[in-house]
Amino acid sequence: MLDGFARSITYLRISITDRCNYRCRYCMPDGGIEKCAHEDICSLEELRDMAAAAVRCGVKKIRVTGGEPLVRRGAVDFCRMLSEIPGVEELCVTTNGSLLKEVAQPLRDAGVTHLNISLDTLNEERFRTITRLGTLQDTLDGIKAAERAGFAKIKLNCVLLGGVNDDEIADFVDLTREHPWQVRFIERMPMGCGKNFGTYLPSQAVLDRCPELEAVSHDGVAACYRLPDAKGTVGLIAPMSHAFCAECSRIRITADGKLKPCLHSDAEITLRGLSGEELEQAIRRGILMKPERHHMDETGVTETHRGMFAIGG
Ligand code: GTP
Ligand code: 5AD
Ligand code: SF4
Repeated sequence: MLDGFARSITYLRISITDRCNYRCRYCMPDGGIEKCAHEDICSLEELRDMAAAAVRCGVKKIRVTGGEPLVRRGAVDFCRMLSEIPGVEELCVTTNGSLLKEVAQPLRDAGVTHLNISLDTLNEERFRTITRLGTLQDTLDGIKAAERAGFAKIKLNCVLLGGVNDDEIADFVDLTREHPWQVRFIERMPMGCGKNFGTYLPSQAVLDRCPELEAVSHDGVAACYRLPDAKGTVGLIAPMSHAFCAECSRIRITADGKLKPCLHSDAEITLRGLSGEELEQAIRRGILMKPERHHMDETGVTETHRGMFAIGG
């Protein structure tokens, strides 16, 4: 359906958990997070019913996110449940990749069509510094497992962190010479800890450092580029320097069953406890509440009280 600004809402992101096996410095605070109480977390069946109602409202693409979605028990079964909803054309997962070695094939068998994998550095020591708990090799093994399982068009998400990983921009771009991946550079958004780690860099920094990149097309919210003769592409996601709100097609559901019409707004609608026509009406109401745009700038703060770990991007 169309929202109040004539945008067609076709993409649902569901965060199935606010837990994560990493503690990325731009996402989680030093002392850990205040997690949702267990009883506040919806069952996977409740979340599936919400997703099915959203599909009846016009959603065609669903992305499962977290925290880290694959740490939740039943994540693969949940994907299967979603793939069985008539009308779901694309079923995607965004993951830090650490558990993919074991579950890439089961996810594929459950009907997942696309995987986006977070990777902010190619240096083992730095990977540990950024994620506090992670091991680079796990993610690299996860990417290989995803390829073996038959996932095509794998996307790697690299958050641009000035003074932390910007010296690796060219190395990331070089990955696309031999691999058919889309390496995506994402402008860091000033949410929660996002503003305290590294400095903000506009996506233009990638083009400045790799002038041989040629513009090819758009893919969702990413402006795409390619090195001459490369197998893969480079995507630039610029929510700060080139806000893409006018083309936004997304709504979100959080693990505690709230509909979030916008990543950056505190407006939420409670879906838990609703069913049938009432549930659908609440989703339609949420879609009509979607604001025209976000109001962040590099220094400003987002209006949402939730950290990224509780929304899933
Ligand atoms: P595709 O479906 O493959 O295009 O992926 P995606 O970019 O929608 O999803 P992904 O989970 O890989 O997110 C990539 C980055 O985009 C993350 O940093 C998200 O936080 C950011 N992002 C996702 N949705 C939004 C949004 O609605 N607004 C803003 N400002 N940023 C978003
Ligand atoms: N700004 C931009 N991207 C972020 N992500 C997490 N926090 C931020 C932030 N403050 C990214 C993760 C993951 C995706 C879902 O969101 O790295 O790739
Ligand atoms: Fe976990 Fe993703 Fe946050 Fe890192 S950015 S702590 S992987 S939810």
